[in-house]
Amino acid sequence: MTLNVDKHQETSGIAGDYPSSRFSVAPMLDWTDRHCRYFHRQLSEHALLYTEMVTTGAIIHGKADYLAYNEEEHPLSLQLGGSNPVDLAHCAKLAQERGYDEVNLNVGCPSDRVQNGRFGACLMGEAELVAQCVSAMREVVDIPVTVKTRIGIDDQDSYQFLTDFIGTVSEKSGCDDFTIHARKAWLSGLSPKENREIPPLDYPRVYQLKRDFPHLTMAVNGGVKTLAEIEAHLEHLDGVMVGREAYQNPYMMAELDQRLFGSNKPVKKRREVVEAMYPYIERQIANGSYLNHISRHMLGLFQNMPGARQWRRHISENAHKPGAGIEVLQQALEKIPAHLDV
Ligand SMILES: Cc1cc2nc3c(=O)[nH]c(=O)nc-3n(C[C@H](O)[C@H](O)[C@H](O)COP(=O)(O)O)c2cc1C
Repeated sequence: MTLNVDKHQETSGIAGDYPSSRFSVAPMLDWTDRHCRYFHRQLSEHALLYTEMVTTGAIIHGKADYLAYNEEEHPLSLQLGGSNPVDLAHCAKLAQERGYDEVNLNVGCPSDRVQNGRFGACLMGEAELVAQCVSAMREVVDIPVTVKTRIGIDDQDSYQFLTDFIGTVSEKSGCDDFTIHARKAWLSGLSPKENREIPPLDYPRVYQLKRDFPHLTMAVNGGVKTLAEIEAHLEHLDGVMVGREAYQNPYMMAELDQRLFGSNKPVKKRREVVEAMYPYIERQIANGSYLNHISRHMLGLFQNMPGARQWRRHISENAHKPGAGIEVLQQALEKIPAHLDV
C-alpha cells in the first residue's frame, strides 16, 4: 500500500494516510462516465473518482476504447467486472499502462446480467476465486488493486461470513483496501435499484470489520448524504464512498477539499463550477460530442436552491437540440435569481 500513499501524495500534495480514498465518488453505470468525472473534478481536486464498471469482455473484445479518460480526472480508479484471473490481470495491466491510479474489482453488483457472467456480488460466495483474481492482478501491476463489496448475499449475511470473505481475500491475495457497501444484496427477487434501497444499512458492522482488520484500509459506502455524515464515518474508518447523492446533488462535494483534505483554496460557487466547464464543453463539442452528453450530469448542481427547477428544465429542453453549446448553460444560469451569490 505504500505505493498507493506515495502516488496519491504526489498527485494531491497532501500528507497523511490514503488521502484520496478518504472520499470517493462511487462507480455508477451510465452515470460516472468521463464527462461526469470531469465535472466532479471541478468540485473536488482530491476525491478519488471511479469509472463505471467495465467488464473484461468489453475491454478485450469490444470495438470502443473503454479505457479513455481525460488527464484532469486523476486520481482515478478503473472498476473492472469479471472473474477470470487471466483476463482481469490483462485488463489491470492495460489500466496501469494507460495511467490509472488504481484498479478496483466489483464484488457488489447484484444485477442478473452480471450474475450470468459470474461476477459482481455473487462472487462474495466464492472468496477463493476472488483471491485468485486479485492475486493475478496484483502480480502484474504496481498500482493498488482494491475490492468493492457488500456485507453479505442472500442468507449468507452473518458477520462470520463477512469476516471469512475479507480474511480469505486479504490473506490469500494481499489485497489491503476494501470498500464495503453497508447492506447485503439479494441475488434474486430484487432489482439492482431495490438492492440499493431495501436491504437495511448496517454501518456498525463495517466499523466492527475495521476494528477486526485494523491493518486493512476500509471505506464505507451506502446512503451517505452530507459532509457531516462523512466526517462521522471517518471517526471509525479510512474512507467514505458516496454514489447517488454525489450525482444528484453534486454541490455536496463543494467543501470536501477544505474540510477533508486540508486545502486552503476558496470554495467554488456553483456558478464558477458551471463556468469552469465551458472550455471543456467547447473542446468536446468541437471533437464531435453533444452538449447534453455533458450537461445531463450537471442537472443537480442547484439542488435545493431557488431556480433549481428552471435550471434543470432549461437544460433538459434545449441541450439536445442540434448545434446546442454553452449558451444553453449561460441562459440556464440566468434562471437562478441574480441576488443569490451561489
Ligand atoms: C445508476 C447506478 C449505477 C451503478 N453502477 C455501479 C457499478 O457499475 N459498479 C458498482 O460497483 N456499483 C454500482 N452502483 C452502486 C454504487 O456504486 C453504490 O454502491 C450504491 O449506489 C450505494 O451508494 P449510495 O447510497 O451512496 O448511492 C451503481 C449505482 C447506481 C445508482
